[in-house]
Amino acid sequence: MIRFFENYNLKSHNTFGVEANTRYFFEFTEQEDLETFVQSNETWKELPHFILGGGSNVLFQRDFQGLVLHPNIPGIVKVKENRQNVWFEVGAGEVWDDFVRYCVDYGVGGVENLSLIPGLVGAAPVQNIGAYGQEVSNVIERVKGLDLQQKLQMEFPADDCGFGYRDSLFKRELKNRFIITSVVFRLEKFPEFNLKYGQVEEKVKELGEVNLQNIRRAAIDIRSSKLPDVNKLGNAGSFFKNPVVKVEIAEKIREQFPDVPVYQVNEYEVKLAAGWLIEKAGWKGRQEGNVGMHQKQALVLVNYGNATGKEIFEFSERISQAVFEKFGIQLEREVNCI
Ligand code: EPU
Repeated sequence: MIRFFENYNLKSHNTFGVEANTRYFFEFTEQEDLETFVQSNETWKELPHFILGGGSNVLFQRDFQGLVLHPNIPGIVKVKENRQNVWFEVGAGEVWDDFVRYCVDYGVGGVENLSLIPGLVGAAPVQNIGAYGQEVSNVIERVKGLDLQQKLQMEFPADDCGFGYRDSLFKRELKNRFIITSVVFRLEKFPEFNLKYGQVEEKVKELGEVNLQNIRRAAIDIRSSKLPDVNKLGNAGSFFKNPVVKVEIAEKIREQFPDVPVYQVNEYEVKLAAGWLIEKAGWKGRQEGNVGMHQKQALVLVNYGNATGKEIFEFSERISQAVFEKFGIQLEREVNCI
């Protein structure tokens, strides 16, 4: 099935809930529909285009004078199984958390810590979603889709996806050029549970046995207690990435703030918590007009009313500036600003 609209409103397609229109909107539920579209219609090539999944990591600053491509391909299919693993091929349009629940109910591990992350499966590899010690790149076998320039179906084995912290080839070299149509995941029948991060272990123990269901429950409880529900308060999760800096920079901060949270990346670099930096710069819970930083998680920028994309963007610039002035660290946005 395809749906094609002109002057289409995107408010319900972005979790910030900002008003924005796109000149054209093309939604498809089968890869063949997309192929037919790109082969039969040359005019779209002249237009700027943008691939939109669940809209949970995007900020529209104004109307988009181009074409939004929205893959809505459904399906979870078991493609292979052996003694250790089960492989599922999942359509780009499946809701990410429905897939996590499916795996947990099926009894296979690898994505349970990623419970309740908003968005669709097709977007998961793009920013290599992660939470509570798991990253989706650890369970991705391959990513399938269509290269819009060459009009060719292509597949990328995980090793060729350029995965990094909230990063991949799909948001760099292949940005808006490669449309992901499905992802093949390799799940574990005998998973090693990952309880190291933050309160996960404590929460799971409260719930009882260490198993997939309880880890999922714990991740959901922790997320819901800290992060605002997108159905109630517009937001896009973490607005900035956690900055990776040289060890010396972190040491300097530690002299003044002995409690600074620091995560080792390698011998020379550490990751700092952007939420902590924003809090120390005095912006946690601060609200200006319709926009603010969440009271419980300073990394989450919230639309408290009818904020425009421009207002949200400008507010985020002030936060970056404040962190830079206090710590000399330049925050990088995690959210895709259009
Ligand atoms: N912190 C503060 N103040 C705050 C927020 C955090 O001091 O307002 C401190 C916490 O006390 C903790 C550290 O910063 O010591 C890390 O905080 P938290 O565990 O809440 O995680 P995060 O680093 O802020 C990252 C991801 C989240 C993910 C959580 C849990 C990024 C950009 N964000 O946040 O992912 O859910 O870890 O794993 O990496 C997302 O990407 O949208 C997202 C929500």
